[in-house]
Amino acid sequence: SAAEKGGYDWFMQKEIAEQPQAVADTLLGRVNGQGRLKLDEMRLSEDELRAITKIIVVACGTAYHAGLIAKYAIEHWTRVPVEVELASEFRYRDPILTKDTLVIAISQSGETMDTLMAIRHAREQHSRVLAICNTNGSTIPRESDAVVYTHGGPEIGVASTKAFLTQLTACYLVGLYLAQVRGVKFNDEVEEVLTQLSDSPAAIAETLNRMEPIRKLARSMVGARTVLFLGRHVGYPMALEGALKLKELAYIHAEGFAAGELKHGPIALIEQDLPVVVVVPSPKRPLLHDKIVSNIQEIRARGAKTIVIAEDGDDVVAPYADFLFHVPELPILLQPLVATVPLQVFAAELADALGYDVDQPRNLAKSVTVE
Ligand code: G6P
Repeated sequence: SAAEKGGYDWFMQKEIAEQPQAVADTLLGRVNGQGRLKLDEMRLSEDELRAITKIIVVACGTAYHAGLIAKYAIEHWTRVPVEVELASEFRYRDPILTKDTLVIAISQSGETMDTLMAIRHAREQHSRVLAICNTNGSTIPRESDAVVYTHGGPEIGVASTKAFLTQLTACYLVGLYLAQVRGVKFNDEVEEVLTQLSDSPAAIAETLNRMEPIRKLARSMVGARTVLFLGRHVGYPMALEGALKLKELAYIHAEGFAAGELKHGPIALIEQDLPVVVVVPSPKRPLLHDKIVSNIQEIRARGAKTIVIAEDGDDVVAPYADFLFHVPELPILLQPLVATVPLQVFAAELADALGYDVDQPRNLAKSVTVE
């Protein structure tokens, strides 16, 4: 009903708006003032966490994209190798699992059948399973050795938004906690990241305040037949997520690519006026930044309409951007917390402009409880 939507047009709009609070709730009580982390519900001893030699993240859909981003962060902070796998592929390929493997299952609902079957398989092989989940007492956390709840609150819109940002936040917490317990790098970079993570709800709120041009852009694009998304580093999974959102909601063909792969195929798709969304890493990472700027130049020279998401103060990209959106500064590993927000709003607004039901896209279910 309208009252349940609290004045918003759709639940998804409400859930997008709730993201600063949702992320704050994920962090609540888990970070103390001294830059230390506390994950009480972890139920895995520090000795067990120190013994881990490999992490495998299993998930589906948007949660899988959270896992792809988590890999960049967890490997960088902990130096533990991380694999990320679609839950539906996992058990059928005879994955290498030992008691020192930590399997992290990410699931908003805690009921996704593929993810559940993946963790059952992992436990049969005596691996430890940690669930990152939004739904208290659901099946996946009940069948796991440990759980970090995201505390994002109920998510009604089929396309995941606040659940995604809170999954990311929980992944960051787990990565930082592992770094803390294992004594890696903790006193310098990791402590600083923790402070920036604590500040991220304000950055998300600031991003939300800037959405009007994105809405207008989306509404001007009802004629688009294909939209491509490009990114590097964590921008690559963000590109995948941006494309997924557009498929789910607006039924527009969309694909996400690693920008570095352009020359290996996708550039052949570029034609006059093709919209291409590019997520640009911070200019503080000059190697990454320079490369993506030349990618933008390459596609623009071939006629692409470039929709560029870049950090505040990054004006180097401006001459090559048909549309430029700035997000607040965060360390690159945390950038998805702000830079995915315009992608969510873009997809939802475009779907609405096309007359589709944003909360209940055709053929999709909020939770997929069959394999
Ligand atoms: C469905 C939903 C997606 C979600 C995926 C995984 O496909 O439509 O939004 O990302 O399931 O769901 P889970 O509950 O496991 O996170």
